[in-house]
Amino acid sequence: MSSTTSSTQRPTWRTIALILGLASPVFGLGWNCKDIMDAGVHWNLGKLGGKHSVSWQDIQEGQPTASNWTFSLNLCDNLGKEKDVDEKHQCPTNTNICAVERDFDPDKPNEGNATVRKWVAIAGEFSMNTGVHLEVKPTRLKTAGSHADAQREGLRLEMTGGRDPLSSPKGIQQKAVIELVCNKKMTGWEPKEQPKVKSESLAKRDDEIAEALKVVSYGEEDVRGEIWGILRLDWQSQYACEDAADIPQDPSTSWGFFTWFIIILFLSIAAYIIFGSWLNYTRYGARGLDLLPHSDTIRDIPYIVKDILRKAQGSGGSRGGYSAV
Ligand SMILES: *[C@@H]1O[C@H](CO)[C@@H](O)[C@H](O)[C@H]1NC(C)=O
Repeated sequence: MSSTTSSTQRPTWRTIALILGLASPVFGLGWNCKDIMDAGVHWNLGKLGGKHSVSWQDIQEGQPTASNWTFSLNLCDNLGKEKDVDEKHQCPTNTNICAVERDFDPDKPNEGNATVRKWVAIAGEFSMNTGVHLEVKPTRLKTAGSHADAQREGLRLEMTGGRDPLSSPKGIQQKAVIELVCNKKMTGWEPKEQPKVKSESLAKRDDEIAEALKVVSYGEEDVRGEIWGILRLDWQSQYACEDAADIPQDPSTSWGFFTWFIIILFLSIAAYIIFGSWLNYTRYGARGLDLLPHSDTIRDIPYIVKDILRKAQGSGGSRGGYSAV
């Protein structure tokens, strides 16, 4: 083997590792809603994952301003796109927290089809669009510092990454401050049912319809001399409690489709090999490697791989002909 090939191969692997390293935050690997830690306390907010929406009318001087804001959020994944909504009227796919402003007529509230004025991406993974990453900062309330915080059990999540407008580097930076407060009587999905949970022993729901997720405010705030758009949310949930991460998760929900797919694939391959070997043994009296089904093909694999590699390198490499095996 010539030295040129080996020296060009090693940087290739280094480049691949570098690309993977750079790409991992792009796919949101840095933030896991199922394993959040601050001050030595763990939280698993996996059961709060999924889309939540809450509407809010900005009331100023006792009068509502003429807008109706709808905030949509997903702590665990991006919001994706809604098929039946115009592209211009929704945030990009990678958004985790999106605000949509609609016309609001106090005389005709609850008008679902009111005109959309704009969307604001508050938090999301926008490294592909703008170079700005999703950043999530968790803070345990009990040790957060203020007297009011010390009385409460839960965590504060500060999520950033968006700006208004998103396409402009001069857009106003956006941030969501979500206070997740422990409430053992609420899942966090009220007034709706928590989806896909069969036996929910934890949540004994009260009869009155309480809203778990509430908007405190959305507007511009001065953050150390900079203007930010800040969304403040209050969220009551049992998953914000400090002992909630220790509660065993329902195994049927934590075993995803992919896990089952791998297990079934593995079992099928195992069954195929065992049955094939048994056939070869009983029919042809095969022994050793010959027992395996397609033993000829399996024996050829190293040669096939070498051939492919040689062809792949052949275009740029200086090597000619076959090297000794
Ligand atoms: C605000 O807009 C949302 C979404 O279209 C709608 O469901 C809600 O009823 C509106 N609220 C008011 C008070 O108009």
